[in-house]
Amino acid sequence: MSAPAATTPAGGVAASEPLLCARGLIKRFGGFVAVSNVDVDVHAGHITAMIGPNGAGKSTVINLLSGALLPTKGSVTIGGQSIVGRGSHEVARMGVARTFQTPRLFDGLSVGESMMLPRALFAKSSYLECFVHSPRTRKDEAGGWESALDWLSFVGLADVAEMPMSALPVGSQRLVEVARALALEPDIVLLDEPAAGLDHTETERLARLIEQIAQSGIGVLLVEHDMHLVMSVADTVVVLDAGVCIATGTATAVSEDPTVIEAYLGVVNDKGAGEVKDV
Ligand SMILES: Nc1ncnc2c1ncn2[C@@H]1O[C@H](COP(=O)(O)OP(=O)(O)O)[C@@H](O)[C@H]1O
Ligand SMILES: [Mg+2]
Repeated sequence: MSAPAATTPAGGVAASEPLLCARGLIKRFGGFVAVSNVDVDVHAGHITAMIGPNGAGKSTVINLLSGALLPTKGSVTIGGQSIVGRGSHEVARMGVARTFQTPRLFDGLSVGESMMLPRALFAKSSYLECFVHSPRTRKDEAGGWESALDWLSFVGLADVAEMPMSALPVGSQRLVEVARALALEPDIVLLDEPAAGLDHTETERLARLIEQIAQSGIGVLLVEHDMHLVMSVADTVVVLDAGVCIATGTATAVSEDPTVIEAYLGVVNDKGAGEVKDV
């Protein structure tokens, strides 16, 4: 990638082992089961897509994998270490970055300033040094701004660094979310519907960005409704329906699976093949 150096997978994990491994994930909200016994693997340099109708449990899975929610049951490991109960900041420090389905606007901050927030997780300055604005704090800030501009350039948005997030169209806000996640220099990124609100050209650009992210060695989990995007970039597709995983396989295998076609992709035609449609 042209932006800061490609990251390496979490230490000591063989290339064939998943970086992130979730098994038997269950999440209940009161009596309602939002996620039921779901397994997900994210491999370094691979793109795993998660699809399913609205309410299928996709964002809940991202919340479970990023430490934002505790699973009712099940395990999530990164590089063999459990993340359950660690909280989202610690999980981020372990190499997992995410975007949000609704982009965060950070009222009062420019796009570039909002890009510097992830670096606070790694800042070397102590609280006191920040308070007195010490030389080390100023160095952290200067490096943060440079890095913010690099990552904004990577998603094609360097020219909006000084603008407030709320002034951007939603498509650009989503791309800033992707850039902000990458600024953490993660081993894994979890992208929650990054193409929602993007036009055709922006979606094509996003597809190439996601491929570049994976080529740099980062493991990608892509939650997405845009089936053309999923089919064009995903190595593996996991299909959720009402919290249950109904299929896992290559994009082609999944798109020809009658259960998936019936539940999600469209009606089965007389040759048994489903028509892929955006939902
Ligand atoms: N914090 C919550 N409390 C109660 N129910 C929730 C909560 N978060 C999600 N849900 C419910 O869980 C189901 C799955 O939601 P979600 O993961 O957002 O689906 P998706 O992202 O696939 O559209 C939905 O029925 C949603 O209303
Ligand atoms: Mg969602």
